[in-house]
Amino acid sequence: MSITTKQLIQWKQQGSSIVALTAWNYAIAQLLDAAGVDLILVGDSMSVILGYKNTLPLTLDETIHHAKAVCRGVSRSLIVVDLPFLTYQESIQQAMHAAGRVLKETGAQAVKLEGGYPAMVEIIARLVQAGIPVMGHVGLTPQSVHQLGLGQQGKTEADAERILQEAIALEQAGVFSIVLEHIPPKLALQITQKLSIPTIGIGAGKDCDGQILVTSDVLGLSEKQPPFAKVYTNLRQTITKAVEEYGMDIREGKFP
Ligand code: KIV
Repeated sequence: MSITTKQLIQWKQQGSSIVALTAWNYAIAQLLDAAGVDLILVGDSMSVILGYKNTLPLTLDETIHHAKAVCRGVSRSLIVVDLPFLTYQESIQQAMHAAGRVLKETGAQAVKLEGGYPAMVEIIARLVQAGIPVMGHVGLTPQSVHQLGLGQQGKTEADAERILQEAIALEQAGVFSIVLEHIPPKLALQITQKLSIPTIGIGAGKDCDGQILVTSDVLGLSEKQPPFAKVYTNLRQTITKAVEEYGMDIREGKFP
């Protein structure tokens, strides 16, 4: 049985932490699902794995291709898919079309959209009214990299207040959960206490209802990680060593 958006809200009420990670293909998704990850995000951070410099070039077709592979590998986790840059910001119709394609073509249960400004809240409210589960995302929003950079957000009182109000507006619009990215832990705690839907933190301290990291960072596959990431293993080193050994074995006649 797959985890539902309603269950995540119940877990917040019960004080159970939500474990989330990103995935971009069948093999990774299968491993995360079997290891007990509650929420798998087909994040646009997969851009890094595809060799893009940031999340902006990723297309809806690429996202759907990868999301379908992730869905094939998952039986328990809730699967959320990031709508890529400029596939939903233009209008309600554009967002409905993109979210509709994701849900119809991939088998994922929900979509994530960045931003909590009034026009985005309106778009999200319409998606929710149409029966599409939506996850919000405030604080550092990587699709706005050319406006915000990649630094911590909400450092001034005014900025912190704006982010808090955005989170409240998103809850009112009907999102089932919100990602809080790279904001001061004090602000994340304030938002978490204020909302009745779960907050999922990334670089937002320990007081969110759940935590997410980018799996390629956790596994040491990314060339560089953000300051808040925790690297649990170094797969770049492991893979390089294995491939070098394989090459040596062939050149020295040890394999086959
Ligand atoms: O794309 C992604 O991986 C994300 C996480 C940083 C939450 O949006």
